[in-house]
Amino acid sequence: MRSNPRDLASAHLLGIADLLVSEIERLLRVGERAARWLAGEAPKSDVLRGRVVVLGFLEPSTRTRVSFEIAGKRLGADTINLTGGGSSLDKGESLLDTVWTLESMGVDCLVLRHARSGVGNDLAPRLERMSLVNGGDGAHEHPTQALLDVLALRLRGVSPGGLRVAIVGDVAYSRVARSDLFLLTALGAHVTVCGPPSLLPAGLAGMARAPGSIAVTHDLEDAVSGARVVIALRLQRERQEAGLVPSIEDYVRGYQITADRLERLSPGALVLHPGPMNRGVEIESRLADSPASLVREQVTAGVAVRCAVLERACRAGEWATPAAARAQANVEAVRAFAAAREAS
Ligand code: CP
Repeated sequence: MRSNPRDLASAHLLGIADLLVSEIERLLRVGERAARWLAGEAPKSDVLRGRVVVLGFLEPSTRTRVSFEIAGKRLGADTINLTGGGSSLDKGESLLDTVWTLESMGVDCLVLRHARSGVGNDLAPRLERMSLVNGGDGAHEHPTQALLDVLALRLRGVSPGGLRVAIVGDVAYSRVARSDLFLLTALGAHVTVCGPPSLLPAGLAGMARAPGSIAVTHDLEDAVSGARVVIALRLQRERQEAGLVPSIEDYVRGYQITADRLERLSPGALVLHPGPMNRGVEIESRLADSPASLVREQVTAGVAVRCAVLERACRAGEWATPAAARAQANVEAVRAFAAAREAS
C-alpha cells in the first residue's frame, strides 16, 4: 500500500535535526538487526517487494548511492538510478518538475543527493505520496552518514551516551559534521569540534541538542586528549585555492590525525572517516588501515542503516509518529536549521 499523505512526515528523512530521539533509536535498532541479517548467507527479503526507489544522485557518490542500491535490492525493492547527465534536468527541467514526474509514475521513495543546502526541506511539503530521503544536500546534512557512524560504533560495543568525541577538520562545509553533531548530542555524547579558524564557523555550539555538549577549539591536542572517538573530516581541496588553508603541509602539521598522535593523546581511541579519504592529508594512511580505524566498518554499517531508512521511507504507516510529537520535532528542526545556517 502506498504512503498515506498523513504519514509522509514520518517517512521523509531530511536531516537528523528533524528526528525525535525515539525515531533515532528505532532506526538504530532496526539497523542493528539488519546488520546481523546482512552478515548472514545471501540475505534477501521481500519486505519492500513492489516498492520503487529512485536514487537521484545529482552529485558524485560511491558509498551512499551503492549502499542504498544494495539495501533496496536486499529488501526486494525495484531500484532505479537517476543522474543529472542524461535526464531531462539536462534539458532545463526544474528539479520540482522532475520530482513530481517521479511521484506521478508511482515511485515510493526518492533518495536525493544535491548541491543545494536544504533542497529536500523545500521539496518535501510539495509531495503527496512519495517520500524523500536526503543523501547529502550541500553543506546542510547527511543524515544516513551520521546514523551509520553511530551504528558502526554500537556494533563495536561503543554507546554514544557520555561518549567523548572529537570532530576534526573542514567543518565549515561539512554536512557530515552537522549531522554528526545533531545525532551525537541527541544521544548524550560530548563533542569537541576542532580545526583551523578559517574552517570553523561561528555558532557551532548552538547546534547541540543538549546545551553545553559541544566545545570548540583550534588546538588538536585539546580536542583529541581523552577522546574515545575521533572523526576526521575530508579536507575539501578547493579550500586551499580559496585561501582558507595556507598550504596542505601546514594543515597536515596542525591537524592530521596520525597513529602516533592518537596513541600519545588518547591511547585506545577509535578513528572514523566518512570517506572519500585524502590519505596523508587529514588522516595518516597507516592509521586508516590500522585496528583503530572503523572506516571499513562504517561502510558495512551503511548498508544496514540504509535498509532501516528505506523500510521507514516505504512503509510509512508502520513507522508513523504521533502528530503532536511530530509537530514538536518540526519546531525543533526549524530551530536547528537556523543554527546550522548561522554556522555555515
Ligand atoms: N561518505 C559519503 O557520502 O561518501 P560518498 O560521497 O561516496 O557517498
